[in-house]
Amino acid sequence: MELREALEARASCRKFRAEPVPVEDLREMVRAAGLAPSPGNTQPWRFVAVLGAEAIEPLGRAVRQRLAAALPDPADERAARARARAEWLATFFTEAPAVIAVVHQPRRTAFDDLLEGQRDERAEAFREIDRAQPALQAIGAAIENLLLAATAMRYGACWLTAPLVARAQLEDQLDIREPERLVALVAVGRPVALDAEHRARRPLDEIFTVRY
Ligand SMILES: Cc1cc2nc3c(=O)[nH]c(=O)nc-3n(C[C@H](O)[C@H](O)[C@H](O)COP(=O)(O)O)c2cc1C
Repeated sequence: MELREALEARASCRKFRAEPVPVEDLREMVRAAGLAPSPGNTQPWRFVAVLGAEAIEPLGRAVRQRLAAALPDPADERAARARARAEWLATFFTEAPAVIAVVHQPRRTAFDDLLEGQRDERAEAFREIDRAQPALQAIGAAIENLLLAATAMRYGACWLTAPLVARAQLEDQLDIREPERLVALVAVGRPVALDAEHRARRPLDEIFTVRY
């Protein structure tokens, strides 16, 4: 599949066939992720593939437990439906044959080295860069590359942050230790249906302006 075609075809997939995903295919997706741009080419990421129900289910259990404790008891049927939907969006990844945990691996940039120990106004100007979270921006680009590669390889995938309600428990299970941080999961598998419906998008004129 051509890049343009993958771009247009990509949509979040939340229903997968049981078929396992070969590690070689996951490696190819992560290779594509690693081609993303990053601040000073620091590549502040690593990816952990979790394969099979036996390994994935305990992650889902931790998320379900945290959600049960954190979500208020629904007051009526509508609230109960909204709650069930939220739970589904945070836990459907347990039905995927593969889950990729995306880990932020902090790495020093040239700016960090230059600003070591600086606390003055000049340093403050550079802190503005940190406020835009350049490493997380790069990780977002990497995840999109991964999704596009998965789409091009006829896989379905979905980017998830809702499971992070149980971040500490997931990190524990996946041996992710400070200063690393789990920032997302990506569920991957052969989609039940290939043409997932496309979510509506804001009109181009609303999100794009030109200044001369
Ligand atoms: C940062 C981020 C976090 C997301 N977290 C979740 C999630 O936790 N659960 C989920 O089902 N979808 C999640 N999504 C998928 C979005 O719901 C989806 O991308 C959006 O509705 C647009 O639909 P599309 O991906 O099919 O184009 C997330 C997407 C992004 C970019």
